[in-house]
Amino acid sequence: MAVQISPSILSADFARLADEAEAVSGVADWLHVDVMDNHFVPNLTIGLPVVESLLKHAGLPIDCHLMIEDPDRWAVGYAEAGAGNVTIHAEAVKAPVRTLRAIRAAGARAGLAVNPGTAVEPYADLLSEVDMLLLMTVEPGFGGQRFLDMVLPKLRRARALVAAGGGSVWLQVDGGVSEETIERCAEAGADVFVAGSAVYSAGEPAAAVQALRAQAERATAHAGWAR
Ligand code: DX5
Ligand code: ZN
Repeated sequence: MAVQISPSILSADFARLADEAEAVSGVADWLHVDVMDNHFVPNLTIGLPVVESLLKHAGLPIDCHLMIEDPDRWAVGYAEAGAGNVTIHAEAVKAPVRTLRAIRAAGARAGLAVNPGTAVEPYADLLSEVDMLLLMTVEPGFGGQRFLDMVLPKLRRARALVAAGGGSVWLQVDGGVSEETIERCAEAGADVFVAGSAVYSAGEPAAAVQALRAQAERATAHAGWAR
């Protein structure tokens, strides 16, 4: 099970996005882009036009995390634009099967995200429609928040659900992932790690990605779920 690191540009300099993407392009697996609409979450970031520009300039596949209302309407546009992954929130989507299938049909991987207080078990039957499950480890909306340890038992249960279904669904964690918390996430079952402030508030973003990856790989090697 390969560890993947997805730096979040939410903590980058928005006036220098291409440079900030470039800073991690040789070492990261994805570039995580947080789309927020000031309705689903109390913050406003960027939308499709900026993602389209990033797609031209970022040397990494784009991992779009849509924290928006009505993903049924908007998600497919990000996949059609060329995002490698498009994640929608379980709390916002009204027709998940249709929308996840539309994302896949447009050529992207389909992700389903759940907030810290949302259980994963009700979504077990949807896992065949999903390429990645995102477990938020903070309440979505802002970078730099404190990691919520209460999500770790759910992460273990999610890993068991994924294993029961054959194990092909990636398990992503997002929020407060840092050198202090990434090992706990890997031990509990995560294999894709989003890190915003731990990468872009560090002096050397590329070195931060490499350090996080090394830690996650060490912890995964000792994790019971990965054997
Ligand atoms: C928060 C976003 C995250 C955010 C994480 O709602 O989904 O991707 O950038 O930032 P850190 O890693 O600083 O918690
Ligand atoms: Zn995110």
